[in-house]
Amino acid sequence: MKKTQKEEMKKITIAIDGFSSSGKSTMAKDLAQEIGYIYIDSGAMYRAVTLYAMEHGLFNGDEIAVEALKDRMRDIRISFRLDRDAQRPDTYLNGVNVEDKIRSMDVSAKVSRISTLGFVREAMVGRQQEMGKAKGIVMDGRDIGTTVFPDAELKIFVTASPETRAKRRYEELKAKGRKAAYDDILKNVIERDHIDQSREISPLRKADDAILLDNSVMSIPQQKEWLMKQYLQAIQ
Ligand code: DC
Repeated sequence: MKKTQKEEMKKITIAIDGFSSSGKSTMAKDLAQEIGYIYIDSGAMYRAVTLYAMEHGLFNGDEIAVEALKDRMRDIRISFRLDRDAQRPDTYLNGVNVEDKIRSMDVSAKVSRISTLGFVREAMVGRQQEMGKAKGIVMDGRDIGTTVFPDAELKIFVTASPETRAKRRYEELKAKGRKAAYDDILKNVIERDHIDQSREISPLRKADDAILLDNSVMSIPQQKEWLMKQYLQAIQ
């Protein structure tokens, strides 16, 4: 059978890291769809572990029952399935669609703590590397270009001001009919930036060979066009 142009092109690994609500998922998802790559939202995996811990009584306020969670790690199965209507992958936790639940403010408030745990990171990084074995993948997160795929052919690091990111998150929740105060969201964004950047294992930082993008004043179509340009250059 004749190969399509897309199949003949060299497959690469694309790592998109950056601050929370910087719009990196939208960019990553759009690019993956356009070029026929798999898209993986690694943050969704940390969110799914957080939801699991919440639903299994492994949180006491902000305290995590670390040993109990460690014992349960192998019971946590995370997968992605395409939602054909929305044209985006939904996150499944042990076979249940948890896409909405993992985006709640409750999960957002706790996920950074879960993602500081070494055994959680180790498990997630292993699963992510497995998913990227065949290349042809766009993965977004915090440590994709530094830890998960240090040899990725294209690495992008996305940033925008905390206020811009909080506004985006506010609009996103509002569009879904969820109530959330802008001030609370801004506080959460700033707090997560701090935890993500200061954690001991794989802190959020730009890989030396990543291309920096500040998209504070860019529209989604502009970002999309910019990223496509970077991709076309990378496959040359
Ligand atoms: O991208 P996000 O906001 O959905 O990510 C949720 C949290 O997961 C974020 O606070 C940091 C963590 N995370 C991480 O530590 N490493 C990743 N590769 C992706 C996310």
